[in-house]
Amino acid sequence: MRIGILTGGGDCPGLNAVIRAVVRKGIMHYDDQFVGFMEGWRGVFENKTMEVNMDAIAGILPRGGTILRTSRTNPAKREGGLQRCMENLRTNGVEALIAIGGDDTMSVAQRMYELGLKVVGVPKTIDNDLMGTDFCFGFDTAVNTATEAIDRVHTTAEAHQRVIVVEVMGRDSGWIAVYSGIAGGADVILIPERPFDIEEVAERIRMRHARGRYFSIVVVAEGAKFATDAATAHGAPVVTDMGKDEFGHVRLGGIGQILAHELERRTGLETRNVVLGHIQRGGSPSAFDRVLASRYGIGAIDQVHKAEFGVMVALRGTDIVTIPLVDAIHKTRPVDPELVEVAMGLIDPIPTAPANK
Ligand code: F6P
Repeated sequence: MRIGILTGGGDCPGLNAVIRAVVRKGIMHYDDQFVGFMEGWRGVFENKTMEVNMDAIAGILPRGGTILRTSRTNPAKREGGLQRCMENLRTNGVEALIAIGGDDTMSVAQRMYELGLKVVGVPKTIDNDLMGTDFCFGFDTAVNTATEAIDRVHTTAEAHQRVIVVEVMGRDSGWIAVYSGIAGGADVILIPERPFDIEEVAERIRMRHARGRYFSIVVVAEGAKFATDAATAHGAPVVTDMGKDEFGHVRLGGIGQILAHELERRTGLETRNVVLGHIQRGGSPSAFDRVLASRYGIGAIDQVHKAEFGVMVALRGTDIVTIPLVDAIHKTRPVDPELVEVAMGLIDPIPTAPANK
């Protein structure tokens, strides 16, 4: 069979491991041939391809990024874009497509499926918030990177008796913040799912310092929001003024800096801000992510040969299953409330004022 493959959206460690697994099993067990579309859906739209054979995938398992490169191109936003993609797939003799990506990539895959494309999705987002799957590959690596950074920040915060705010990725959900915050022993963790009261955060830090601690670590997801109140007039995520991408996403950034400024002003404690940014998406995948990515890759190529399309492979508990593409798109998966409870159990409760009689 001649199968197309692409990687779309933000990159993350483990993309190459998926490609390798798909291609190895496809060539060695099913006698398949592969055509890679470069830079996500842009490669399908512009007909930019590369042959993906055993030589192309040699040595890529531990490599971050993606040999197929990626982009946030949305062909549905261009005049006749989806039809042109269908035509280019036909010209290349593609009988089925494996699309590796997140919500945006899957939403285009679903549109193409409705036009007749035989497509199987593989879930990918560093934020770990894709619906329908318990974990995305790349997330574990990002958490390890963020945890190591928090450990490093701890020692310098302690030496200088400072508060340090660490801003991590997490556009709509705080999975990286909660996991790395728990693993790194953060004193405050702020996530998009729970808008925060800045005065309450300041109070937690004051209380900790009143107990004799002389430094604090705050982990904040980039999409975290101030609760709306008259004093801060926030309530929306902090964004840069760079406009939106083709899927309508704003570019986030700046919450850590604002938070550091506000905390220093409110507590009188010297405060610094560190933004981890794309460091979390780079580098070699962890062993866990290599295994998960390989399982997804094998699941996807097996699915193509079962000839059941319009689905995405997913992890449910410890099993690889498939779910309809439509179940994975247009919504995000919030952090498990039980995890938030674990994080809350590790910090001081704020004493509630006695009720007035
Ligand atoms: O969607 C994943 C993500 O890493 C978000 O956490 C982040 O806001 C965004 O991508 C960054 O996108 P870009 O790589 O386009 O700057």
